[in-house]
Amino acid sequence: MFSKSYSATILGIDPIIITIEVDVSDGFPSFDMVGLLGSEVKEARERVRISIKNSGYSLKAKRVTVNLSPADIRKEGTAFDLPVAFAILSSYGYINDKYFKDTLVVGELGLNGKVNRVNGILSIIHTAKQEGFKKCIIPYDNINEALIIENIEIYAVKSLKEAIDVIDKGQMMKIQKNAYDYNFNKKDYNANYDFSNIIGQGFAKRGMEIAASGMHNMLMIGPPGSGKTMLAKSASTILPDLTFDEAMEVSKIYSISGLLKDKPFVTNRPFRHPHHTISTTALVGGGRIPKPGELTLAHLGVLFLDELPEFNKSIIELLRQPLEDRHISITRLSGRFEFPTNFMLVAAMNPCNCGFYPDRNKCECSINNIKRYLSKISKPILDRFDISAEVLQVDYKDLKIKTQGELSDNIKKRVEIAREIQLDRYKGKDIYYNSELNIKEIEQFCRLGEKEQKLIELAYKKMNLSARGYHKILKVSRTIADLEESTSIKEHHISEALSYRGLDTKYWGNKL
Ligand SMILES: Nc1ncnc2c1ncn2[C@@H]1O[C@H](COP(=O)(O)OP(=O)(O)OP(=O)(O)O)[C@@H](O)[C@H]1O
Ligand SMILES: [Mg+2]
Ligand SMILES: [Zn+2]
Repeated sequence: MFSKSYSATILGIDPIIITIEVDVSDGFPSFDMVGLLGSEVKEARERVRISIKNSGYSLKAKRVTVNLSPADIRKEGTAFDLPVAFAILSSYGYINDKYFKDTLVVGELGLNGKVNRVNGILSIIHTAKQEGFKKCIIPYDNINEALIIENIEIYAVKSLKEAIDVIDKGQMMKIQKNAYDYNFNKKDYNANYDFSNIIGQGFAKRGMEIAASGMHNMLMIGPPGSGKTMLAKSASTILPDLTFDEAMEVSKIYSISGLLKDKPFVTNRPFRHPHHTISTTALVGGGRIPKPGELTLAHLGVLFLDELPEFNKSIIELLRQPLEDRHISITRLSGRFEFPTNFMLVAAMNPCNCGFYPDRNKCECSINNIKRYLSKISKPILDRFDISAEVLQVDYKDLKIKTQGELSDNIKKRVEIAREIQLDRYKGKDIYYNSELNIKEIEQFCRLGEKEQKLIELAYKKMNLSARGYHKILKVSRTIADLEESTSIKEHHISEALSYRGLDTKYWGNKL
């Protein structure tokens, strides 16, 4: 007899619906699985057979053929065990496949018949709903992720027996959708990292506010103990809240990566802080079945690289393409995978090995050593920072006064306003933030008046700007104007944007 069930596999970060067809006929006993299968899927044969037997069903020796389609998509992972078992049991006449014809089924089977959790449930259910499925049967251990998506019936099962019982008797137990309060955008950062705790550093703090508003990449350079790490870690406290759609986009990535175990939904903007010993695969993603790396886990949030020159130079250079394209492609035998990488890069560094250059009272590094240290950051990488700020040590008298700085919550309010303005301005376009503007869009959205044009012309000549530097200044000026809720870019916006340039010439001797 012939039966069908439906499941899904994940390609990159997108689920693809898979149809499972099973035919059981008399003839020479065999069990074949076909359809471009990865090794774990091939092993499903044994898991499913033993799991069915241990759930109390006997399968007479027959000719069994299992086909997974579409044929051109490579199927990986263990999530097909449960739907394969369903279709086999239906072909043997134990259950009727009419009960799961509008149902998407995923779950790994243990030999004892237990249904184990799988990654990517949130994405899979999201896609199932879009594709018109009415129900999903999923592992009980994935129940939290399933609570997020509404208007689709979810059945969470612990064992194959339980799954069959609910189908067979047509009395599936629906899970209660409103059982979980996912507390959207609740603050869950460390209170130590409030901006009000950072003494002095007004220039760098303001730089961070501008960066957070327009999602501009920011570089901080300065001596040890000046507060660079502290500033970067405080960025989370002023970033705008995730919208529901953004939260869904981020959560799907975390779901596929198996990082949603305790929390069913990512409710705060990602802040990733990989160590400088990170491997290429961990950074960009990869593996036999490619999984997202840190660049993708930072999508729509912050990637913080502390002590930037300590990273392997090849790792730093790898950032170029994803920073430019906002996604990364990985090619494998099984196909080409695309992962989104639209993050804000925040980097911190000392200017030399000892950290005190250009303070020659403290820094004894040779010029060659300093040059070697700085050369770990190439010009194309430097070019990708829209905002750069020196973070010098705080004066002793400032430390002593300890005036309370502005609270992160206050700063965040301004950031949110600037972001609303951008969302509104770029409605219907593929961009959210000023940092994403291309040259044509800069022309359209960063128009200058006569006075402003003059000012930037003057800077172009005096500061030895490059064309790229010129465009960066316009984008940052746009963000500064948005923070002030000004529709036009004014002179003082440009002057402030110009003040966040200059490290290139001061430390690297480059054209801006
Ligand atoms: N501006 C500041 N306001 C308040 N505390 C500060 C400030 N700067 C530094 N500190 C204190 O010094 C500690 C070290 O600062 P932080 O780690 O941010 O320095 P850093 O600039 O990253 O130094 P390094 O170059 O060595 O990494 C902080 O944990 C904090 O206690
Ligand atoms: Mg530090
Ligand atoms: Zn030095």
